Amino acid sequence: MTRHIILDCDPGHDDAIALILALAHPELVPLAVTTSAGNQTPDKTLNNALRILTLLNRSDIPVAGGAAKPLSRELIIADNVHGETGLDGPVLPNPSFSPQAITAVELMAQQIRQSTKPVTLIPTGPLTNIALLLASHGELHHKIERIVLMGGAAGVSNWTPAAEFNIYVDPEAADIVFKAGIPITMCGLDVTHQAQIMDEDIERIRAIQNPIAKCVAELLDFFMIYHRDPKWGFIGAPLHDPCTIAWLLKPELFEAQDCWVGIETQSELTLGMTVVDRYQLTDKPTNATVLFGLDRQGFVDFLADSLSVYTATYLNRR
Ligand code: BDR
Ligand code: CA
Repeated sequence: MTRHIILDCDPGHDDAIALILALAHPELVPLAVTTSAGNQTPDKTLNNALRILTLLNRSDIPVAGGAAKPLSRELIIADNVHGETGLDGPVLPNPSFSPQAITAVELMAQQIRQSTKPVTLIPTGPLTNIALLLASHGELHHKIERIVLMGGAAGVSNWTPAAEFNIYVDPEAADIVFKAGIPITMCGLDVTHQAQIMDEDIERIRAIQNPIAKCVAELLDFFMIYHRDPKWGFIGAPLHDPCTIAWLLKPELFEAQDCWVGIETQSELTLGMTVVDRYQLTDKPTNATVLFGLDRQGFVDFLADSLSVYTATYLNRR
């Protein structure tokens, strides 16, 4: 059975790997790739999506750039994690094709309207574009099957003592998304910090010896640098965004629990916090399936197996 998907991302090393992972699986039919401002400025994240799709020989997938900044705040970028280009590390091709001459929201709306099946949205950056889509196209909500997002956390944080990066960048957008009444899967830091890729995993990926696995290994070499700081207590680097794709295709690797999740949009101290009612301490109705546990080895095996698809013959088949 195939699933129609739209990836809304801010590449970003782990976004790029999520894209590469998704496109290795024909069960996921990509209707569009749209880009959000986040890990880098909007011009760079858009260019990076085009460069990755060019590398994958997937210029058939329509791409559009999204909002230049969060709904009501100035943009914060994560160049300390992802570098000057947003995808520092490997040498990537220049884009072989152009984005659509419409916005991310217009492209998403068009593709959802035309889709013969309900669509799964996969946001792996700040939720600005998704919030704008939901707010401006209520008539399409019934055609959105689920939103599988990377963002938030129940018990940890990575950008402020209370907040994860994607939600912190645009908390007002996250608030709209979590209140929309559409099924949500939240791949937050509780699970993505278990999705650590170790040095030996990177060497295993490099040894696959195809152009895409080589690129992923080089992306990971760079991504590792930021995460080697002992303050994090990591052994490897947390592969946040690919958890969305792994959950869609291999949910048995994860432990999940339905919870109510609210977004803090007011407090200076805890802005962007995802308040997760894990222990049903309120009677608020659940609005998200929150991922808490992961079979790490199963996740790494899935990634490595998926990357082995990308032989030169496969890449030139179109
Ligand atoms: C998230 O922030 C970004 O830097 C990553 O791409 C990921 O989506 C993790 O907090
Ligand atoms: Ca991201």
